[in-house]
Amino acid sequence: MEKDYFASRATVRAYDPERHISDELLDSILERAMRAPTTGNMQLYTVIVTRDPERKAALTPLHFNQPASTGADVLLTICADFNRFTRWCQLSKADPGYNNLLSFMSAMTDAVILAQQIVTIAETEGLGTCYLGTVTYNADKISELLNLPELVVPVACLSLGYPAAPAQQCERLPLKAVVHREQYRADSDADIVELFRSKEEYAPNKQFVTDNDKETLAQVFTDIRYPRALNESVSQMLKKLLRDKGFIS
Ligand SMILES: Cc1cc2nc3c(=O)[nH]c(=O)nc-3n(C[C@H](O)[C@H](O)[C@H](O)COP(=O)(O)O)c2cc1C
Repeated sequence: MEKDYFASRATVRAYDPERHISDELLDSILERAMRAPTTGNMQLYTVIVTRDPERKAALTPLHFNQPASTGADVLLTICADFNRFTRWCQLSKADPGYNNLLSFMSAMTDAVILAQQIVTIAETEGLGTCYLGTVTYNADKISELLNLPELVVPVACLSLGYPAAPAQQCERLPLKAVVHREQYRADSDADIVELFRSKEEYAPNKQFVTDNDKETLAQVFTDIRYPRALNESVSQMLKKLLRDKGFIS
């Protein structure tokens, strides 16, 4: 692994159409990623690999045809899965109590940890990766397309491929914003403004503000990228999906 991998990593959204990830490499990445920590070693996740062009063409509209999805060599849909474990319990004279919110959270945690481990290993193998948050926005339709049974919900999607160009890093908040020592620190309004200053001064973010005809960067988030009405309608869909899949009543 490169010494500065963690300091230099970045998401890659454009992939070389001429290069393909071999089955051997993909299996090796997934096998090693499965060494990630998991709740009670129950491995409450399933990874659905999409590489068939027709299946990809059916899936990518549900990712709003983001270029990172349409140009991906492989798409991985990572599901929180308590189905397999529940069935094993039922077949083993054990009474599974996993149709509840806690169990969904355990499975979601396992799935997300697995996803990030896949990202890290894939990137150290020279691949580019991108999370597709659209998996959450269309979780119900993706569940249907992928035939997900009870107690299985998609929680992460990754696009993978060989990078078309080197990854470009973007900005981060300063360490002080994120790390609080011993107890939660009460930041003043002036502190908050200061913590976000470098983000606001980052040239591509200034461009976002101009391009979207907004006054502040925060408005790009609240009005365009993650608006209230969308957050609320997706939340309603997710509650219904969790009910339909038997995680909540
Ligand atoms: C849960 C999650 C969902 C994301 N969804 C998308 C997405 O739908 N499209 C996209 O281009 N990038 C997506 N990203 C990537 C982020 O935009 C990216 O990680 C962030 O801007 C920081 O950039 P970096 O990873 O290059 O440091 C997602 C990341 C996460 C963790």
